[in-house]
Amino acid sequence: MKKLKVAVMISGRGSNMGSLARAAMDPDYPVEIVLVLSNKPNVEGLNLAQQHGLPIRVVDQTTFDSRDEHELAVTQALQEAGAELVCMAGYMRILEDAFVNEWRGRLINIHPSLLPSFTGLDTHARALERGVRIHGCSVHFVNNELDAGPIIAQAAVVVEPNDDESSLAARVLEAEHELYPRALKLIAEEKIRWTGDDSVRDNNATADDVALLK
Ligand code: GRF
Repeated sequence: MKKLKVAVMISGRGSNMGSLARAAMDPDYPVEIVLVLSNKPNVEGLNLAQQHGLPIRVVDQTTFDSRDEHELAVTQALQEAGAELVCMAGYMRILEDAFVNEWRGRLINIHPSLLPSFTGLDTHARALERGVRIHGCSVHFVNNELDAGPIIAQAAVVVEPNDDESSLAARVLEAEHELYPRALKLIAEEKIRWTGDDSVRDNNATADDVALLK
């Protein structure tokens, strides 16, 4: 089976990267993880990647004079690894336009809310404050606007009356770990495609493929 070569970009814990790595251990999963790249040294996710036997690379943002120079080095590392698609998984840095343009249509992210609600940070606290009854997570293509690229798949999580930020975050994270490998598989199998006009086209993807109800 021809596998899609994927790099995962992290900045911390790396639990979503771990869920992709576990999925990729299945010989029938259509993805090979060719690199785990972090913009920060010594983060937990790098150890986890090594435990999975994955190649790691740190491109430390503090050693570059500008964001553009840092991201050029990131692109170079991703290209050297032969990445055909890049998954951001807790990569906590807003990307410059040049990087996004370079990888457009080949760059996806997981975000802990049902987009387009609650872009940005502290999504669980804001969801609770706003009193939403259903929360969740989204996998989307990355474009030049923060958390606004075309949506690939979403998982919905019911907000319980006694939820606090950490209980809700934990259930959403569990949903993320199920959703991200599924969404990535849809792309690898070309069931979902990014189209040049910044939207997605479902190509044999079913409602069950793209919408997960927890
Ligand atoms: C996840 O909630 C992800 O949705 C967000 O950052 C968090 C990263 O967690 N973008 P982890 O590093 O994957 O454990």
